[in-house]
Parts: sequence; C-alpha cells; structure tokens
Amino acid sequence: TYVIAEPCIDVMDKACIEECPVDCIYEGRRMLYIHPDECVDCGACEPVCPVEAIFYEDDLPAEWAHYVTVNADFFDDLGSPGGAAKTGPVDKDHSHVARHGAG
Ligand code: F3S
Ligand code: F3S
Repeated sequence: TYVIAEPCIDVMDKACIEECPVDCIYEGRRMLYIHPDECVDCGACEPVCPVEAIFYEDDLPAEWAHYVTVNADFFDDLGSPGGAAKTGPVDKDHSHVARHGAG
C-alpha cells in the first residue's frame, strides 16, 4: 500500500485525492489517510503531493516508518467504507497525529 506520512499534517493539500482511481484517500482532522486494503498501489498520488508526504510503504523514510500503522489504524472503527467521497471528512485523527506538535 501507499502511505501518507507526517508532512501532510496541517497541510492537507488534497491534490492526491484527485489522482486516486479508487477514492481510498480519507480526510481526518489534521491529515489524510490511505486505506491499506482499498489502495491498489497504482502510485498516481505519490508525485502530486507538494510536500512529498506520500510513499510506497517499503520506501518510507525510517523516521516515518510508523505511519504504516498510523494510516491502517485510522480505519479500525471505520472498516472498509469503499469510497472517501461518500464517507466525507472524518472528525478524528490517529492519536499519534492528534498530539503531533503538542510538545
Ligand atoms: Fe496531504 Fe499531500 Fe495529499 S499534503 S492531502 S498527502 S497532496
Ligand atoms: Fe490511490 Fe493509487 Fe494512491 S490507489 S492511494 S492513488 S497509490
């Protein structure tokens, strides 16, 4: 799967959404998250992010390796909605993201 990492936090450019053929990039409060089971690994989202927040999971920089879990766990209570557009913005973040920058 592809994964969205820390640079997306509080940026949320959303250019990636336009590129995803399966609409598997979901909006949280502070960043967006890729559904690991719905992503078809097409790679279309990765080059359009202006802050280079998107990586194939095996290519994540070491300091952001935990974002594989951050993206996956976001969907623990959502399951597989099958489309971000119909789901709409989700009023939460992964706990790691929610406290990011809080010191
Ligand atoms: Fe975030 Fe980049 Fe998409 S900033 S919303 S991953 S285009
Ligand atoms: Fe979607 Fe392809 Fe990215 S399926 S999340 S645009 S890798």
